[in-house]
Amino acid sequence: VAKKNSSTPKLKRSDFPKDFIFGSATSAYQVEGAAHEDGRGPSIWDTFSEKYPERIQGGSNGSIADDSYRLYKDDVALLHNIGFNAYRFSISWSRILPRGTLKGGINQAGINYYNNLINELLSKGIKPFVTIYHWDTPQSLDDAYGGFLGREIVNDFRDYADLCFQNFGDRVKHWMTLNEPLTVVQQGYLAGVMAPGRCSKFTNPDCTAGDGATEPYIVGHNFLLAHGEAVKVYREKYKASQKGQVGIALNADWNLPYNEESAEDRLAAARVMAFTFDYFMEPLVTGKYPMDMVNNVKGDRLPKFTSEQSKMLKGSYDFIGINYYSSSYAKNVPCSTENVTMSSDPCASTTGEREGVPIGPKAASDWLLIYPKGIRDLVLYAKYKFKDPVMYITENGRDEASRYGEILLNDGERIDFYARHLEMVRDAISVGANVKGFFAWSLLDNFEWANGYTVRFGLVYVDYKDGCKRYPKKSALWFRKLLHQNKSN
Ligand code: BG6
Repeated sequence: VAKKNSSTPKLKRSDFPKDFIFGSATSAYQVEGAAHEDGRGPSIWDTFSEKYPERIQGGSNGSIADDSYRLYKDDVALLHNIGFNAYRFSISWSRILPRGTLKGGINQAGINYYNNLINELLSKGIKPFVTIYHWDTPQSLDDAYGGFLGREIVNDFRDYADLCFQNFGDRVKHWMTLNEPLTVVQQGYLAGVMAPGRCSKFTNPDCTAGDGATEPYIVGHNFLLAHGEAVKVYREKYKASQKGQVGIALNADWNLPYNEESAEDRLAAARVMAFTFDYFMEPLVTGKYPMDMVNNVKGDRLPKFTSEQSKMLKGSYDFIGINYYSSSYAKNVPCSTENVTMSSDPCASTTGEREGVPIGPKAASDWLLIYPKGIRDLVLYAKYKFKDPVMYITENGRDEASRYGEILLNDGERIDFYARHLEMVRDAISVGANVKGFFAWSLLDNFEWANGYTVRFGLVYVDYKDGCKRYPKKSALWFRKLLHQNKSN
């Protein structure tokens, strides 16, 4: 099917620092399956997929997913075989705390599962990079106080993170508190296309269970406080003995002005960055929301940090994870005075094309326009605007459409994608960006949220019709070749 482009850049392992981490990433709900087994409690993704099957392509869910709960040793063998020296995975909160809280009881089978996975990784020399929260809030906490809409989540998340540090921190040295808080805010509380499916009629005429003007900001605020509390616990109780690093994985499109000549569009692009990447980054660096947000979110919809909270947030990271997929053009638009939602606050619109010309070729998902330079520009933006943080690319990848009955292994387009993005990461490093590693999304084809199983991001093909049997694609072999050069030079 897909041919490797003859202009695909040639990369060498030695183009990257010796201690550069090459890994791959997954998340619990997307690969584990065993959603109702061994004492795991329900999460908002179990509920969402059951309640709104029409919001998920094919009406599917993650109940079985890739069956990594049982097949985790195969996953580790694949990582090892490719030559990755790190694996980014997430812990399912309700697998270890079925009701979300310590009071609701600890599920030892869940703790055992992650211990086994971590030990298996370490036995093969693979470093675990662990995400504490990748979108699967325990359902009981959503029932009790609206999940991340309730301030109570901050302490419950802190206790959950504490339990993770306590049980796994002797072996896990790289933690990410949250994965892409922005995506949950936008897709879960504004567009309603992801769990818990809240939105307003102004953002999605099909759903009215929410309020797109205020709820997203409350959720974003609680995410930040939850992150801050978790880092605080780590630093106070574990850092001295465990000597690990705690970060967060943030995502953003890179945004260019629609019209480079227009000062208004340039400011619009800056505002979009403020409402996406800076939204979470700025509070972690300065303890404050970006000025563009403070100035543009009218009324008292943007919560405020107390001085104590600002102090807690400021500097609350050892590294920043960057998830990068795509870029867009930003255009200045007049600020709307009615039907205000979070998406209208930046007084800007974004689009993937300029005068009919897309910013880059489209992958299988409509939102994924391929623009490799964006990864370099985003990383350099973070470097210069936010005090030169240590960074890892914690996700980057492209998908292809599933085709019924066909085992798709010939993914030359994915090889081209990775070669081009890694080339840009190499360039960013060469001009001083402190990028320490790169994780491909994803190790496996998996449950891609609203896309269900209709698109595939894996380096490894998963045959859902045959017990989730795994087959490395050409891109896995490409990584293997790149990483095995390591051994000889
Ligand atoms: C990232 C998420 O935003 O994008 C991953 O962190 C996700 O969990 C990936 O799988 C691809 O997006 P989607 O919406 O196609 O699953």
